[in-house]
Amino acid sequence: MLIREAQNQDIDQLMAIEELCYDHPWPREAFEEEIEQADIGAGIVAEDEGLLVGFLTGMMVAHEFHLHNMAVHPDFRGRGIGRELLAAVESMCREKDIVRILLEVREDNEIARHLYLSMGFESVGTRKDYYGPGRDAYLYSKRLKPESEPGS
Ligand SMILES: CC(C)(COP(=O)(O)OP(=O)(O)OC[C@H]1O[C@@H](n2cnc3c(N)ncnc32)[C@H](O)[C@@H]1OP(=O)(O)O)[C@@H](O)C(=O)NCCC(=O)NCCS
Repeated sequence: MLIREAQNQDIDQLMAIEELCYDHPWPREAFEEEIEQADIGAGIVAEDEGLLVGFLTGMMVAHEFHLHNMAVHPDFRGRGIGRELLAAVESMCREKDIVRILLEVREDNEIARHLYLSMGFESVGTRKDYYGPGRDAYLYSKRLKPESEPGS
C-alpha cells in the first residue's frame, strides 16, 4: 500500500470511490479545487498496485487544516487505510506548522467517529442539521501544538 500526495490525474479514480461511498457525492469541481490549489489545498491517496483505494482531502485555513472528505473503497475497509491516511495528513500538518485539524462527522457515522477518537480527535461541538434536516454533525478537533506555543 502506497500513501502519497494526490495529483490532478487521480481525480477520475477519486470520483469513482466518492460515488461508491456517498449517496450525495461531491462534484468533480470540489476535488479539483482542493487538489489543484497546492498552496492551501491538500489531498492524500492510498494506492494499491496502481489503483486508488482511498483518499483524504481538505484545506489549510490560516493555521488550521479543515479535513473535508475521506473515504476508503468498500472492498478495502477495515485494513487500516483510513488510519494511515489520517496519520499521513497529521505528519503533513506538523511539517506545515498547522495548529489543529478540524472536521465534521455525521453523528450516526459510528465507524468514522471511532476512528477519529482513536486517533486523538475530540468532540468540541455540534452542528445542527449540517447534513440536512435532522442530520446533525459533531465537530471534531485534534490539536497539534500546545496552547502556549506561538501561532497556536
Ligand atoms: C470511515 C472510513 C474512511 C474508515 O476507513 P477504513 O480504512 O476502513 O478504516 P481503518 O481500517 O483504518 O479502521 C478504522 C477503525 O474502524 C473500524 N472499522 C472499519 N470497518 C468497520 C466495520 N465495517 N465495522 C465496524 N468497525 C469498522 C476498524 O475496526 C478500525 O478500528 P480499530 O483499528 O480500533 O479496530 C471508511 O469506513 C469509509 O470510507 N466510510 C465511508 C465514508 C465516510 O464515512 N467517511 C468519513 C466521513 S467523516
